[in-house]
Amino acid sequence: MFDYSVIDRIDTSGEAPLEEPMRQYYFMKKCKEWMEETKDRVGRELTLSMQTMGCQMNARDSEKFEAILTYIGYKTVDSTSADFVLYNTCTVRENANLKVYGRLGQLKNQKKRNPEMKIAMCGCMMQEPTVVEKIKKSYPYVDIIFGTHNVYKLAEILYTQIISERTIIDIWDEAKGIVEDLPSLRKHSFKAAVNIMYGCNNYCTYCIVPYVRGRERSRKPEEIIAEIKSLVADGVIEIMLLGQNVNSYGKTLDNPMSFAELLKLVTEIEGLKRIRFMTSHPKDLSDELIEVMASSDKICTQLHLPLQAGSTRILKKMNRVYTKESYLDLVDRIKSKLPNISLSTDIIVGFPGETDEDFEETMDVLRRVRYENVYSFIYSKRTGTPAATMDNQVPEDVIKERFDRMLELIRSISSEIADSRVGMECDILIEEPNDHDSTMVTGRMSGNAVVHCVGSKDLIGKIVRVKLLESKGFYYIGEIIND
Ligand code: 5AD
Ligand code: SF4
Repeated sequence: MFDYSVIDRIDTSGEAPLEEPMRQYYFMKKCKEWMEETKDRVGRELTLSMQTMGCQMNARDSEKFEAILTYIGYKTVDSTSADFVLYNTCTVRENANLKVYGRLGQLKNQKKRNPEMKIAMCGCMMQEPTVVEKIKKSYPYVDIIFGTHNVYKLAEILYTQIISERTIIDIWDEAKGIVEDLPSLRKHSFKAAVNIMYGCNNYCTYCIVPYVRGRERSRKPEEIIAEIKSLVADGVIEIMLLGQNVNSYGKTLDNPMSFAELLKLVTEIEGLKRIRFMTSHPKDLSDELIEVMASSDKICTQLHLPLQAGSTRILKKMNRVYTKESYLDLVDRIKSKLPNISLSTDIIVGFPGETDEDFEETMDVLRRVRYENVYSFIYSKRTGTPAATMDNQVPEDVIKERFDRMLELIRSISSEIADSRVGMECDILIEEPNDHDSTMVTGRMSGNAVVHCVGSKDLIGKIVRVKLLESKGFYYIGEIIND
């Protein structure tokens, strides 16, 4: 657990320290002092609403934001209106951007009515200069804009805004090192996500991530292991190792280390029961990694292996650096060493130049691999990426027809896999009370599928043995056979 007394002990009468994270601790305390005065002045608590879009990286950053803002004194509420509204944005696909503008528009009147209200924008969208320009011009009532490389500076930026009462825009082109030891608020006491690296060097031609998240940077193994050990000491039994492409972990460290080596070290941590990781790029998933996965029961039988497209011609245009054949060969190697593996993938439909024949290659891979879960996306043109200016952008109606046909196939394969598991016994980690039935709880299998079963809330955070009674497509109904 983070020791907040370190922050409380800081002397805020002098200048801010220069070194991190002490500098941020100083500003957290400064903001807290401001909050005390503000609460007295307005006669009530100030509320926080955080809207997190996109991937697990953003979700992880939001855990840090929430911890910092909670320490300062904001109280999280469910509603989208609050005294501090923070949008942690995603820009992977265009429609997410449009949604953000829509919501910003709606906040204008709220802000007029509430003089204490602050609006903050961060995340990948803010790394795009055109977005920041648009916000400055069309939504000038936004108070804070910061990017992906300085997330650790939230308290300092907020304090600067409080003192200056102006809009603060702080966007960096690239990261300047990794700041460790910030507080963080986990949603679940028993599971946590841990960043092992940031950024991406792959430059898939459709993808904006390398431009907004910067070059690949790996955290030092000793920092990662120390963080996991302290999480385990705090009651965590499952961790998710996060990186845009975990298979290239460690290449840029002073003492290079492979992801498989890191994973092995993590399996040795006593008390840790389950390990997941994402995302794996197929181009550099090593046999060494498959060996490590096969050698430890702690590593979950789940692997997310984005295919994107089944046609080698399209994969080349996407700069994915593997072919249909080499991908299928990799899947064979994985399945032969890890027969219980649950595979999932990402597919993009309608990449520029995708013909019916190309699309059929994707369908062919889906039929052969038989993924348990497929995240399918309609190609979204991202300005600044090479694919945005490629010829033969595919018409919308053609994409829609392919997309619907693909969903049909995905659904039928997933439900066949699910049906074939009925009657099996497996371990699930109970995560939460059931939303609809108070006599039930909900957990996840090692492969990540959701199981609902009758059981007491005392089981939350525990691993129990379950028999799968029924498959409902996206989830199972199970029965606890031994707790
Ligand atoms: N259009 C559609 N999908 C995209 N993805 C990334 N960029 C785009 C884009 N421009 C998808 C990829 C990636 C997932 C996180 O988002 O499938 O794996
Ligand atoms: Fe984007 Fe490709 Fe990097 Fe994934 S590997 S974040 S799809 S550039």
